[in-house]
Amino acid sequence: MTAVVTGSNRGIGLAIVKELLKRGWSVIAATRKPQAESLKELKERYGEQLRIERIDVSDPRSIEEFSRSLKGQVVDVLFNNAGVLVKGDIFDTSYEDFLYTLKVNTLGPWYVARSLVDNLKKSKNPRILNTSSIMGSITTYSGTHSVSYTVSKAALNMVTKVMASQLRSYGIVVVSIHPGWVRTDMGGSAAPVLPEESAKGIADLSEKLTMSHTGRFFDYTGKEIAW
Ligand SMILES: NC(=O)c1ccc[n+]([C@@H]2O[C@H](COP(=O)([O-])OP(=O)(O)OC[C@H]3O[C@@H](n4cnc5c(N)ncnc54)[C@H](OP(=O)(O)O)[C@@H]3O)[C@@H](O)[C@H]2O)c1
Repeated sequence: MTAVVTGSNRGIGLAIVKELLKRGWSVIAATRKPQAESLKELKERYGEQLRIERIDVSDPRSIEEFSRSLKGQVVDVLFNNAGVLVKGDIFDTSYEDFLYTLKVNTLGPWYVARSLVDNLKKSKNPRILNTSSIMGSITTYSGTHSVSYTVSKAALNMVTKVMASQLRSYGIVVVSIHPGWVRTDMGGSAAPVLPEESAKGIADLSEKLTMSHTGRFFDYTGKEIAW
């Protein structure tokens, strides 16, 4: 099995990379920081099983370059994990921060997936997991400390819906996932879920996905979430 994980140098992305390597998968770790110590250490331990590539998901040219570096490569699972959170309500969020958040959290996953469709088509069981958040659920919305983040993840959920229907004929499963409230730089130190627990749940879910799951929203325990 071969996976691509974006935002793989720290947080949940790094934990997913570690979990998949432990399970014997080949991993392409995509990151803005290919020289990160966290990934260098894994490379020393896992050698050929881990490939590290540069990507900035806010930059379409960088995504295209990444995709070119994977030409001809089979990709079974794409973990669209990279994300940013800039705090602020509708009055104190700057236009630039809102736009940047949409680029990273919404347009990034769409464009990475689109750029890797030929790689996914080569797989017998291709899957895309878009890392959303419960904060992007319109049904359960009860307030937010970041309007840009909440809107970007709600929009990402619609990207999932549209991609799921348009990639169905190729047999590509597309889901949104909520990784839990996780103890990372983004989640903060009060978060109850450890990155390792979240990554284990996400890896388990990725191994179970079939066409019956496509176009749906799950948390890291496999429980379905309302859009
Ligand atoms: N933690 C939570 O409680 C929680 C809850 C719900 C959803 N999520 C989602 O889970 C995902 C991972 O979150 P996390 O908690 O691990 O966050 P994190 O600790 O802040 O890590 C974010 C990762 O995304 C990468 N990234 C950010 N912008 C990027 C860009 N333009 N191009 C490439 N990589 C970029 C970062 O790389 P750099 O080191 O280069 O910045 C880092 O590897 C995000 O999509 C987040 O929205 C997290």
